[in-house]
Amino acid sequence: MLLNSAQNNTEKQSDSVVLHNLQQHRIMFQSTASCLVFVTLVAGVLSDASTSTKDLKYELNNGNFMPAIGLGTSRITGADRVKDVLDKALAAGYRQFDTAAAYNNEEDIGNALEELLPKYNLTRNDIFITTKFSPWKQGENVTDALHDSLRKLKTPYIDLYLIHWPGAGAGVNKATANFTALRAERWQKMVKALKDGLVKNIGVSNYAVKHLRELLANDFGTKPAVNQGLWNPLYHPAELLELCRKEGILLEAYSSLGGTHDDNLLQNEDVKKVAEKLGKTPAQVLLRWAVQQNIAIIPKATSKQHLEDNLNLDFTLPDEDVSVLNGFPQKRNPFSEDTP
Ligand SMILES: NC(=O)c1ccc[n+]([C@@H]2O[C@H](COP(=O)([O-])OP(=O)(O)OC[C@H]3O[C@@H](n4cnc5c(N)ncnc54)[C@H](OP(=O)(O)O)[C@@H]3O)[C@@H](O)[C@H]2O)c1
Repeated sequence: MLLNSAQNNTEKQSDSVVLHNLQQHRIMFQSTASCLVFVTLVAGVLSDASTSTKDLKYELNNGNFMPAIGLGTSRITGADRVKDVLDKALAAGYRQFDTAAAYNNEEDIGNALEELLPKYNLTRNDIFITTKFSPWKQGENVTDALHDSLRKLKTPYIDLYLIHWPGAGAGVNKATANFTALRAERWQKMVKALKDGLVKNIGVSNYAVKHLRELLANDFGTKPAVNQGLWNPLYHPAELLELCRKEGILLEAYSSLGGTHDDNLLQNEDVKKVAEKLGKTPAQVLLRWAVQQNIAIIPKATSKQHLEDNLNLDFTLPDEDVSVLNGFPQKRNPFSEDTP
């Protein structure tokens, strides 16, 4: 049975094809309601060729599910542009959309989805919307910011609401700010939004190990379900992945293809060599590298070809190629690591 797109992406799904248990590193394929087959992951490699990565969902630490691949929408702005890209993305099979208050496209995304979902016989429950509270833009008022995002996205709930960045918000004196207290207050408001049913899952973004440890020490009853961070062969701090796995926090990679960082990953000779050998594109190699580590991805793409390529990751990166990508010299992510 293939994943039924009419299922609610965010609720517990007892008959999903794929349940991804991050902590135990296994994938459960359920071919019939009564027949469960557990397939152990070997070094994170999906071992059943019949399950497409396009349909892969990760199980979060609260039992909810999230598509493994989503569409990044940063820098996709303007009503016509947003509608055009979302139309192509829905046609290609994207069911997760990653936005943020800071991207200035929530309203256009809300309008586009309202118009496009019926075209694809989909309802709100068939898609998964991530958006982010942006402290540097919205100050410290999580509750008002969330209501603003709900209104712009024209939805009664957000599937995944993230704190975009661990730093102090607009209007806060950075020299005297108590960053720990600010983060704690924000998180408590996130937990309240969850309890109020305005969001289905909550998480953080750009949290380095120190920020996560601080949050986990003051759990407030709910751990983050997701930490979205810069993650590609030039930025993959092992300690962060280890901590996320230990705590059952799904790591979600952004800028998998290099993003706007001046890294030229798509032109990197080693990436190109692997791609050529496997008959894949450099983008597919970089995305598969992340998925093979059980990491969620949200590549931003605008052309039909890119959108389709980025969902088509049903191949395995051999160990020797994983080693090449893992061996890239590591860069520091100041946005995350240098935030007090
Ligand atoms: N939480 C955070 O702080 C944070 C920060 C950055 C990004 N993000 C999120 O992560 C998403 C992705 O990251 P990103 O936007 O930095 O960049 P990215 O996904 O690493 O790269 C996007 C660029 O790669 C190109 N591309 C996409 N698919 C391709 C393919 N198959 N072959 C060749 N080129 C391809 C795109 O071109 P075309 O558009 O022409 O297709 C675009 O220029 C963002 O959109 C946003 O949603 C979050």
